[in-house]
Amino acid sequence: MQTIKYIAMGVVRLVLGLTFLFSGVVKLIDPHGTQYKIEDYGSAFGLSAFLPDGLPLALACALAMMEFQLGIYLLLGIRRRLASTVTVIFLMVMTPLTLYLALRNPVTDCGCFGDALVLTNWQTFLKNIVLLACACLALRYYRWMPRLVTRKNQWTVALYSFAFSALFAGYNLWQLPLIDFRPYHIGADIRQAWYDDQQGSGQFQTTFIMEKDGVQQEFTLEDYPDSTWTFVDTRTVESEPAKHTGVGELIIQDASGDDITEAILADEGYTFLLVAPYLEKADDGVMGEVLALYDHCMEAGYAFYCLTASGDEAIRDWKEMTGAEYPFCTADAIVLKTMIRSNPGLMLLHDGRVVAKWPASSFPWPPQLEQQMEQEVSSVEERIAGILCWYILPMMLFLLIDAVSLAISKLKIKHTHTQTPIKTTKNMRKKIVAGNWKMNKTLQEGVALATELKDMMAAEKPNCEVIIGTPFIHLATLSELLKDSVIAVSAENCANKESGAYTGEVSAAMVKSTGAEYVILGHSERREYYHETPEILKEKVDLALANGLKVIFCIGESLAEREANQQEAVCKAELEGSVFHLSAEQWKNIVIAYEPIWAIGTGKTATAEQAEEIHAYIRRCVADVYGAQVADETSILYGGSCKASNAPELFGKPDIDGGLIGGASLKAPDFKGIIDAWK
Ligand code: PGA
Repeated sequence: MQTIKYIAMGVVRLVLGLTFLFSGVVKLIDPHGTQYKIEDYGSAFGLSAFLPDGLPLALACALAMMEFQLGIYLLLGIRRRLASTVTVIFLMVMTPLTLYLALRNPVTDCGCFGDALVLTNWQTFLKNIVLLACACLALRYYRWMPRLVTRKNQWTVALYSFAFSALFAGYNLWQLPLIDFRPYHIGADIRQAWYDDQQGSGQFQTTFIMEKDGVQQEFTLEDYPDSTWTFVDTRTVESEPAKHTGVGELIIQDASGDDITEAILADEGYTFLLVAPYLEKADDGVMGEVLALYDHCMEAGYAFYCLTASGDEAIRDWKEMTGAEYPFCTADAIVLKTMIRSNPGLMLLHDGRVVAKWPASSFPWPPQLEQQMEQEVSSVEERIAGILCWYILPMMLFLLIDAVSLAISKLKIKHTHTQTPIKTTKNMRKKIVAGNWKMNKTLQEGVALATELKDMMAAEKPNCEVIIGTPFIHLATLSELLKDSVIAVSAENCANKESGAYTGEVSAAMVKSTGAEYVILGHSERREYYHETPEILKEKVDLALANGLKVIFCIGESLAEREANQQEAVCKAELEGSVFHLSAEQWKNIVIAYEPIWAIGTGKTATAEQAEEIHAYIRRCVADVYGAQVADETSILYGGSCKASNAPELFGKPDIDGGLIGGASLKAPDFKGIIDAWK
């Protein structure tokens, strides 16, 4: 069952991780493409006025980087809960939006995979439904997605991925998209594509149906049979459907409004196209290069046109500002933006084929022009290999080092275990019964209860250590009251900050100053109602130990997690998250309390067998980190509806060393009944 769950969650993580990674990478390659899509959405929803210049591009980069990060986090199991929560929220927003797109069609292509993979709106909606289902599973069972990088190195991977995605987007904006997914990519025969689109021609194949001796058979021209066969009919099928590249949408008009598209595409030799969708927004820092280039082209006999979607006024302004003498032609802005992701950008055609493209940031200078015109451009495969080298190879190396160092440290621990004979037994471990008053008892009631308990313990010495965990207001008084008794005092919490402006908080140092010896940390009520995360608890544990307190650290699973048989994974994760970073020396001051959340205050106790099973597992986890000897000396308490009636059976189990008692610690006779279970 466990294996099936791991496999299922492996598939879920792959589907989600790879989809987000792909989607992020194609957007990082072409941030302008996503920017235009966001602008399309803006105008389809009448929001253009709220999208100031620069915002769509910033949103495009942020979206691409977020998707890339999410993909990496999901694939490698980094911050699994956070990553799956963000994924669920993201898809909860996108899925209804794509349903609306599918129903109303305000934008024909949602743009989720840029120009690399164009889906219809319905396909996108279905894709999102599948992803949303996977994301919900990932969130529900995030613990079943194993981490592929250790917790301590997660931040390195996350930061590296963040830096890479930012630099990669920046590179693609500064230069042109590293991989050009559009029909005007280098190498594309746009003359041919334009003609094909105009004619809408596909490939057809005709077969001949012939008959001989009452049997009919189909033949092609190549295997046409001899005259013993009689012709019956022909059949023509479209063997290859017409490919619509979109180049057919290119219509170039000269200054007098004549369509000169065909003439430009039919030009033999070299043709330079200065493509500036909007002259009024074009980068005018390249004026010098353009003029020099134009003069050079005239001398060398190359055709040169400027294509723009701007009106006469903008063209006039540009001419005045730059002294441009080259011919201006107009074309549709969307087509121009598809041709080159730079304003202006330079495209070189040779016999109707795109042979080079330059962004405004690196226009060629005439002396090197011919050399650059002839330059071989690297293939798509080479460019993909480049990305792999810059990101994946260092990452793989890092993951490998991480995995090897983890394996070595595990081996070391195993080695220590085999070297260290187990000396202690349950009888030698400290047995503890600890009360947890929670938010009960006024100061006077608390003093009365503690006095009653003190008298009882004085009359009959307990066979275990007795602790009472009380609200902060009792600590000083009870520590004083119980100073000469066998009962130790514990706080129920302490701050995760040392001192300072944290109104309402009580620091570990303050707790210690009351005379209290212990502090209960990680209780499920604090995790749930006060959102104490493993990181916060880790800080609290560190401060408590640093201030000389001993810690009763609580762990335990919810009912849903128990039903999903995740109790072991949950407990292990909680230990790893907050206490397994401690040194063996510090560990001596840790007591573990296993408290299944479903048993706390509910009257439902875990059976003694259930409790023993998980206690033994917890001890094994401790042994894996600190060795068998330390594990055998660690007291592990059970908590959750523990009472005088069930305590003897629970405490009789080999790995249960006492209890953390809530409700039954509020009355002295009940609490005493549990303490007596050790007799
Ligand atoms: P309970 O509480 O004994 O009332 O179930 C135990 C605890 O929360 O520590």
